[in-house]
Amino acid sequence: MRYIEDDLKDKTILITGGAGFIGSNLAFYFQNNHPDAKVVVLDSFRSSCVLSNGNLKSFGHFKNLIGFSGEIISGDINDKDLLLDLEINYKFDYIFHEAAISDTTAQEQDLMIKTNVNAYKDLLELAIRHGANMIYASSAATYGNAKSPQIVGREAPNNVYGFSKLSMDNLSREYIKESDISIVGLRYFNVYGRGEYFKNTTASMVLQFGHQILAGKNPKLFEGSDKILRDFIYIEDVIQANIKAMQTKKSGIYNVGTGVPRSFQDIVDILQHELGTNLKCEYIPNPFVGSYQFHTEADIGSTKEALGYEPAYEMEDAIKDYVGEIKRVYEQEVK
Ligand SMILES: NC(=O)c1ccc[n+]([C@@H]2O[C@H](COP(=O)([O-])OP(=O)(O)OC[C@H]3O[C@@H](n4cnc5c(N)ncnc54)[C@H](O)[C@@H]3O)[C@@H](O)[C@H]2O)c1
Repeated sequence: MRYIEDDLKDKTILITGGAGFIGSNLAFYFQNNHPDAKVVVLDSFRSSCVLSNGNLKSFGHFKNLIGFSGEIISGDINDKDLLLDLEINYKFDYIFHEAAISDTTAQEQDLMIKTNVNAYKDLLELAIRHGANMIYASSAATYGNAKSPQIVGREAPNNVYGFSKLSMDNLSREYIKESDISIVGLRYFNVYGRGEYFKNTTASMVLQFGHQILAGKNPKLFEGSDKILRDFIYIEDVIQANIKAMQTKKSGIYNVGTGVPRSFQDIVDILQHELGTNLKCEYIPNPFVGSYQFHTEADIGSTKEALGYEPAYEMEDAIKDYVGEIKRVYEQEVK
């Protein structure tokens, strides 16, 4: 579905983190709906580098881009020479900045701040010099355990990831005051959908439960999962928010959720309904108490008002739409 009238002919779009989950969905959105736009993907892709928690440092995967015919650059946003090269040799009209240490459990504070905050500042400077609109990924992790509904301005991050995203937002506010370009931060809540498999254990629980069920295993939930509620948001709605944000004159920080929190138990129940199973759930203690969000619910009033954003997918519709892909990935990658 195309969300804006403009065909974006002769426009050049940079997508950082374009080999990741959300970035690759953006790349295909433009390819499919705005074939006359020039799309450049920049991503560090995956290597053997792992963080101290055992997870990969970057999750980009070429398979997320199979079928994408735009330009692809393998590079690190922390590399100032690369950014200079981009500044000299391209003229971007829009920058969608998705590249980040996206792992909320990463402990490397130095790498997190450098990659998520400092490199973002360099990209903002580039955007200003090109006159490009900046649409960047912030996160609901900025709220930590702040009371629901989460409202922009009431943040309380409880991990370095959330802190880094809040620092990006604070930086953006300063730039919004001083520059002419449009700068929009989108605080995604829990995103799920096509393209997330290569995030490994950091992929959404929708995918992980789906694969447990397809393997015939009893879905493993944390104790009290019917009362752990999150604002889960389908990838299509996240793309909608990004595209609507690219032409707004209303720079700012906006929540991207549904406004309707759902439980982890709901996810399993809907998946079992779609997959035609009736496996017994297993309940295990939650090891993340203290840095875990037990209730998130995006206040999306300002997102609707400023961007014309309107979430289109309830979880039932989204899982129905996604389940074929969950099965395909299971057959082709997991089995
Ligand atoms: N998926 C979610 O639920 C969610 C929620 C809130 C915010 N976000 C944010 O949205 C953005 C996209 O997330 P995602 O879910 O697609 O994660 P992802 O890990 O799939 O995508 C991030 C991409 O950035 C790349 N990358 C990492 N470090 C890089 C570097 N130094 N230089 C260049 N590329 C680098 C990775 O290879 C990866 O492809 C991230 O900024 C993330 O923090 C995601």
